[in-house]
Amino acid sequence: EKGGYEHFMIKEIHEQPKAVKDTMLSRIDADSDTIKLDDIKITKEDLEKFRKIYIVACGTAYHAGLVGKYMIENLAKIPVEVDIASEFRYRNALVDENTLVIIISQSGETLDTLAALKEAKAKGARILSVVNVVGSSIARESHDVLYTWAGPEISVASTKAYTTQLIALYEIALYMADLRGTLSKEEIKTIKDEMMILPEKIEKTLENKEAIQRFAAKYSGVKDVFFLGRGLDSPVAMEGSLKLKELSYIHSDAYAAGELKHGPIALIEKGTIVIAIMAQQGLYEKMLNNVKEVKSRGAYVFAIAKEGHKEVEEISDQVLFIPEVSDLLAPVVAIIPLQLLAYYMAVEKGCDVDKPRNLAKSVTVE
Ligand code: F6R
Repeated sequence: EKGGYEHFMIKEIHEQPKAVKDTMLSRIDADSDTIKLDDIKITKEDLEKFRKIYIVACGTAYHAGLVGKYMIENLAKIPVEVDIASEFRYRNALVDENTLVIIISQSGETLDTLAALKEAKAKGARILSVVNVVGSSIARESHDVLYTWAGPEISVASTKAYTTQLIALYEIALYMADLRGTLSKEEIKTIKDEMMILPEKIEKTLENKEAIQRFAAKYSGVKDVFFLGRGLDSPVAMEGSLKLKELSYIHSDAYAAGELKHGPIALIEKGTIVIAIMAQQGLYEKMLNNVKEVKSRGAYVFAIAKEGHKEVEEISDQVLFIPEVSDLLAPVVAIIPLQLLAYYMAVEKGCDVDKPRNLAKSVTVE
C-alpha cells in the first residue's frame, strides 16, 4: 500500500505533482480564458458585497491560508485577514452578512475549525471551504466547497494536502480577480499557464532529494533550526519549521527575516543552523543581507534559492536550487525541499515518521 516507499509520508511527498495536477483539472484549462470553480455560486455581486474575507484554519492549513491572503489581496484586491481557528472562534471577530469566510481543512473534521465555521455562519457570513475529504462535516456545513484532490493523506504530517490547498487558493484568487476585473485576461492566462507547469517543477525539485538526505545525515543531531524567509517565503518558513518539529522533534522557529534584528538574532551563534528560503525575486537582495548577518555570527546557512541566483553560493554554506518560478507561485515549489528535510531528519533520528508522538491525523478534540 506504500507503493514501494518506506513511509506514507515520502510516498505522499512524491504524489504532489499528480495531486496538484488533479486539483487544477477542469478548473484551469489552457483553452479557456476563465476559471471554473466547480459549482461554486459566488457571483460578481456577492464579491462586491464582501467588504472583508477571513481565512480560518489550523496548523498547516493555516499556513496555506497565509499564502492565500497574499494571493487574494494582490490579485483580487479584497482585504483578507487570516486567523487560527481556535482564536477566531473565541474572539468575537467582526463578521456579518458582508463577510466571506474561507475555511481550510484537509480532514474537514477539525473541531476548532468546524466550531469557527459555525460561529461565522451564525453571524450571517458566507462560508466557502477548501476541503480534501469529500462529504466531511466542514464540507457539509459550508455554503460552497472547493475540494482539493490530494487523495487520501495517511501520514499525520500534511504534505500533498498543503500544496493542493495552495492551488485551490490560487484558483479562488484568480476567479475573484476575473469576476472583479482586477486582472486582465492576459495576466490571468500568464498565471494559469505557469500553474500548469508546477507539477514538472515539483518533480524536478524532488530530484534533489539526495542533497537533503546528505544534509540530514550530517546534521540530525542539532538542537535548534531557524527558518527565515520574506514575503511569500515567510509562510513557507513557518510550514517548514512546523514539519521539522512534528517529525524530528528538533526545536525550530520561523521568522520573517526582517524581524531577525528585533530579537531572534541574539540566538545565532557558531554552528546554529539557518535555513534561508530565497524564492522571492523581489526580496532576494534583502535576504542576501540577512544571510550575511547570520553568517557573520557563525551560523551554518542552508539556502533554498532559484536557479541562476549564483551570489548566494558564495555567502552560504550550502544551496539547494529550485527551478525558476514566479514569486507568486514559488511557495508550491519552495516547500518541497523543506518537507524532504523534515522527513530525512526524522528518518535519521529513527522517529516514527508517519505517526509522530502525541499527534493525531484529525484533531476532533479541543
Ligand atoms: C501538520 C498537520 C496539522 C493539520 C491541522 C489541521 O502537518 O497536519 O497541523 O494541518 O491539524 O488539520 P485539517 O487540515 O484536517 O483541519
